[in-house]
Amino acid sequence: MSRKTILDFYRMKEENDKITWVVLYDSCMASCAEDAGMDMILVGDSMGMAVYGLPGTVPVTMDMCIAHTQGVRRGAPNTYLVGDMPFGAYHASTEDAVNNAVRFMKEADVDAIKLEGGVAVTDKIKAISQAGIVVIGHIGLTPQSSAALGGFKAQGRTTDSARAIVDDAVAVYKAGARMLLLEGVPEEVCAFVHKILPIPVLGIGAGAACDGQCVLTVDLLGMFRNFTPKFVKKYAQVGEIAVNCLKEYISDVKSGAFPGPEHKYKVSGDMEEFNKLFAQLEKTLDL
Ligand code: KIV
Repeated sequence: MSRKTILDFYRMKEENDKITWVVLYDSCMASCAEDAGMDMILVGDSMGMAVYGLPGTVPVTMDMCIAHTQGVRRGAPNTYLVGDMPFGAYHASTEDAVNNAVRFMKEADVDAIKLEGGVAVTDKIKAISQAGIVVIGHIGLTPQSSAALGGFKAQGRTTDSARAIVDDAVAVYKAGARMLLLEGVPEEVCAFVHKILPIPVLGIGAGAACDGQCVLTVDLLGMFRNFTPKFVKKYAQVGEIAVNCLKEYISDVKSGAFPGPEHKYKVSGDMEEFNKLFAQLEKTLDL
C-alpha cells in the first residue's frame, strides 16, 4: 500500500469517493488504522483531553504534538498523516507558524498540517503554504478558541454565524489551504461551503454533505468516557471492555489463576543444579 498524496484526495472528491479520517495519538492505534485502510490520520491536539486528562487543548505544546506524531508515523508509515498545530504555535507571527509547520515536516514526517481559524489566520496559512507545506484549514467549532466561543458549542446556527463561517471558508481557501475541515455546524451550512469550494471539504459534526468524515478514535471506540458529542456514532464500548478485562485481571492475580503454566519461562538445563545453587545461596547470602 503506498501513501496517498493530496492529489488522491482531489481525485476522490471528483469521483465522490468519501475520504475517511481519524484522530489518534499513538503507534498501536495508528497501525490499526493503517491495517483498516484509513485514508488519513490526524494526531490531534485533543490529546490534551484524551491522553493527558487536561480540561481542553490550550495547554498542549508543540513538543507534545511532535512526540505523539512521531509515534503515529512509526505505526502507520503508509498513511497520509496530518500534524495539528497547537494553540500558540502559529498565533504570534508568520515566522512562528512556518517554523512550527517545518518542525512537523522534518521531525515527524507529516504530509500536511492543520490549523484552526478563518479570516484571522490567513496570513499564517499563506506563509506556510508558500513554504511548500500542505495546509488544512479548520473552522466552525474550533476547540482552541472555545473560551472565546463561550464553550464547545455548535456554530453557524444563525444566519449571521453561518455568514461568518462562509467568510472564513472562502478566506482560508484563498489563502492557500488545500483541504478544509468544518466542525460542529449544521449540515446545510457545510453543504453550502462544499458547493462553493473546489477543495475537499471534510466534516466532524457537520453532517454528510461533504467529501469525507473525521472522528476521534477514542470516541468511535467508546474509550473516552467523560463526554460523548452528539455527532459521534460509537462502534464499540472499548472503555467498558477495558474495565471488565482489568477487573478479571485483578481477580486472577488475587486467586492465583494468573500467571498460568503457559505464561512462565522454563529454566534451561538441569533443575537439580538450580536447586543446589539456591540452597548454597540461602546459606551464604548475608541479608
Ligand atoms: O484535535 C482534534 O482532535 C481535532 C479534531 C476535532 C478534528 O482537531
